Amino acid sequence: MKAAVRTTYGPPEGVLVADVDEPVIKNHEVLVKVHVSTVNRTDCGFRSGKPSIVRFFSGLTKPRATVLGSEFAGVVEAVASGVTSFEVGDKVFGFNEDRFGAHAEYMAIAEDAALATMPANVTFEEAAASTEASHYALVMIRDAKIRSGHHVLVNGGTGAIGSAAVQILKGLGATVTAVCDTEHMELVRGLGADRVIDYTAQDFTKDEQAYDFVLDAVGKSSFARCKPLLKPGGIYLSSDLGPWNLNPILALTTRLFGGKKVRFPIPPKRDQAAVKSTKEMMESGTFTPVIDRRYPLDQIAEAYRYVETGQKIGNVLISVVPTS
Ligand SMILES: NC(=O)c1ccc[n+]([C@@H]2O[C@H](COP(=O)([O-])OP(=O)(O)OC[C@H]3O[C@@H](n4cnc5c(N)ncnc54)[C@H](OP(=O)(O)O)[C@@H]3O)[C@@H](O)[C@H]2O)c1
Repeated sequence: MKAAVRTTYGPPEGVLVADVDEPVIKNHEVLVKVHVSTVNRTDCGFRSGKPSIVRFFSGLTKPRATVLGSEFAGVVEAVASGVTSFEVGDKVFGFNEDRFGAHAEYMAIAEDAALATMPANVTFEEAAASTEASHYALVMIRDAKIRSGHHVLVNGGTGAIGSAAVQILKGLGATVTAVCDTEHMELVRGLGADRVIDYTAQDFTKDEQAYDFVLDAVGKSSFARCKPLLKPGGIYLSSDLGPWNLNPILALTTRLFGGKKVRFPIPPKRDQAAVKSTKEMMESGTFTPVIDRRYPLDQIAEAYRYVETGQKIGNVLISVVPTS
């Protein structure tokens, strides 16, 4: 089968499309014929081996996973013995952060991993783009117990996580102020944001409105800068480790005292419940992933380069099965 392979940590040029053996499924695993995958920030981190902490999970000196690709949508090609929830021919989607492998024509995944049948009302492209960022957004929103009536500022309303967060928060009934650049203000309003701040015209940390939560979805702020925006007891959330990797440490230390806090939840692995939540949100129309560009598998290095500009809007797709 055709796959995007790398054998060392390094730049996008190290990812080469080659012919490799199809994965062999073991008990309780499913073989998926991948139609669409994405290149996301997790793929970039595990490809480059930066930040270094990722090497504790993926191999200290060289990567264990030679084929990256976490998010996928496709069709079940085969099931191993013991599989009870999926059948050959099912359209499925999910993310495979345990093993990766979706930048290939076929991928193996455990039946109990982050895998579900696709909602009937979405395309392979929408399904592939829907899972990982909405998972991270949901983990933060649920951990902070954000609900109807809360006022939330989302920094980076155009990113994959930010655009999912804006929609999920609106679905919960929160009031959302989102921050993005001039060019994307209409897009973010269209996602449901009640108010949009253009970061090229205004420093959002100087905003006069007070918020119950500040959710930085692009890692472009810090707790110290955002603290004045928070109401007493307000919470700062971030999808990023933050300056000097301080966010996880601040999440521990601010718990010891009263007042404003940082939360940095560690997302659970193998989260089938997350994919099912995403499926429900897509079926009910409360969440549709934002799609930026599409690249064929052969041009995956170009996709990596684009994602690493930090300027993608929502999600970047890899078409494994060419669309006619
Ligand atoms: N916790 C985890 O395990 C995990 C997993 C995946 C990703 N992450 C982290 O989460 C962050 C977001 O990932 P992502 O894939 O959602 O991001 P992304 O899609 O790559 O974000 C790109 C967007 O950021 C916006 N942006 C750039 N500079 C900005 C600024 N100064 N202020 C506000 N918006 C700005 C750009 O829009 P404009 O054109 O509007 O500026 C662009 O749309 C990254 O830091 C990533 O490392 C964490």
